Amino acid sequence: MEDIKLSIKSCLDFVSESKVMGYEAQVRKCAETLENGTGKGNDFLGWLHLPSSITKEFLSDVKETAAFLRANCDVVVVAGIGGSYLGAKAVIDSLSNSFSWLYAKKPVIVFAGNNIGEDYLAELTEYLSDKKFGIINISKSGTTTETALAFRLLKTQLEKQMGKAEACKRIVAITDKAKGALRTLSTKEGYKTYVIPDNVGGRFSVLTPVGLLPIAVAGLDVDALVEGAQRMEKVCGLDTPFAENPAAVYAATRNELYRNGKKIEILANFQPKLHFIAEWWKQLYGESEGKENKGIFNASVDFTTDLHSMGQWIQEGERSIFETVISVKKANKKLEVPTDAENLDGLNFLAGKRVDDVNKMAELGTRLAHVDGGVPNILIEMPELNAFYIGELIYFFEKACGISGYLLDVNPFNQPGVEAYKKNMFALLNKPGYEAESKAIQARLK
Ligand code: PA5
Repeated sequence: MEDIKLSIKSCLDFVSESKVMGYEAQVRKCAETLENGTGKGNDFLGWLHLPSSITKEFLSDVKETAAFLRANCDVVVVAGIGGSYLGAKAVIDSLSNSFSWLYAKKPVIVFAGNNIGEDYLAELTEYLSDKKFGIINISKSGTTTETALAFRLLKTQLEKQMGKAEACKRIVAITDKAKGALRTLSTKEGYKTYVIPDNVGGRFSVLTPVGLLPIAVAGLDVDALVEGAQRMEKVCGLDTPFAENPAAVYAATRNELYRNGKKIEILANFQPKLHFIAEWWKQLYGESEGKENKGIFNASVDFTTDLHSMGQWIQEGERSIFETVISVKKANKKLEVPTDAENLDGLNFLAGKRVDDVNKMAELGTRLAHVDGGVPNILIEMPELNAFYIGELIYFFEKACGISGYLLDVNPFNQPGVEAYKKNMFALLNKPGYEAESKAIQARLK
């Protein structure tokens, strides 16, 4: 069976192979610390063997709920932010037709609760005003402002449009098993609910109902997604020798690059559908490693689009970056460049070639140019863009992130820094309980 593959060949002009291979013992220690649950953040390791713990019964239940929403809704609004949003969005975008919302196929999936844009929410309200819609409300804490605010608006609108009893049937809540406002509300209103396990943090939760339910509602193959993740759980396990373990080698390489002054990692793709995979990856690594004044800064680009903007910086800007390219070997569709009798655009040299062949040469040309320009290049090759390999990619990145965070000696499973803006926002909004902070912040603003 072919799996996603990692190559660090194009890094070896910048860091030596022996240095990277020299990480073997450290990486093993980190991987064992994850397995034994003896490291920092060890109460959040539920993701580590999550794929292999997913049962057929659980997936059937998720698919049944998805089928109900698909049959009864023209639109399903998925409300959530951060880890309660990005995984589902990433998988749905990467596996759906690029123009799916323009086709008659129902339901359309839209996302909310990931911003506080009044225009966004008002325009969503307008769009939904003549639609039969449902809501998947996702919040582990149940108190996240962005999500709670959107849900309050959506719930009010749905109840007005359908009546309370019908509305309740079309709302699914995904939250903590016992605590929080959303759990309390769900019990009171009788919503169908799913549990986000206590030991799975938001950014590691895509393979829980947080990701799986919206993905199933989008009509995508959750079985294959989970199978791919299960396969990577094995491939990236302790039994795999270091040099053959992609998570181990990726974690080692990026840490060695970081120690050599490469402070920024740019995740690049050559398939527009992968844009949100990079957004998900940025949260995974950014929240896991960016703490204690340490950590690689995670950036992303969509090529070839961004070669016409950030390409200049990557080629010739400050040499503090390295690039990780996700390369999809085979396009799913076939489209050839037509011949043109007049050839005014001069493109007849490409006639008869597949568009993907052109893209591949752009990809190879870019990688070579960037290496020549002083940018180390890590390559992740995906045989094709399907649910199985997206499942592999997800688990690969998660496992590498756990190891990488421990190599950096931080707790990869908390996010204390996220609270700072919330504290200020609540103080500025005079939230009850924040009286002292309100006073202090107002004095500061005088
Ligand atoms: O990774 C995380 O833990 C965060 O990004 C959360 O997922 C995000 O803040 C949303 O939190 P909640 O699910 O509690 O609404």
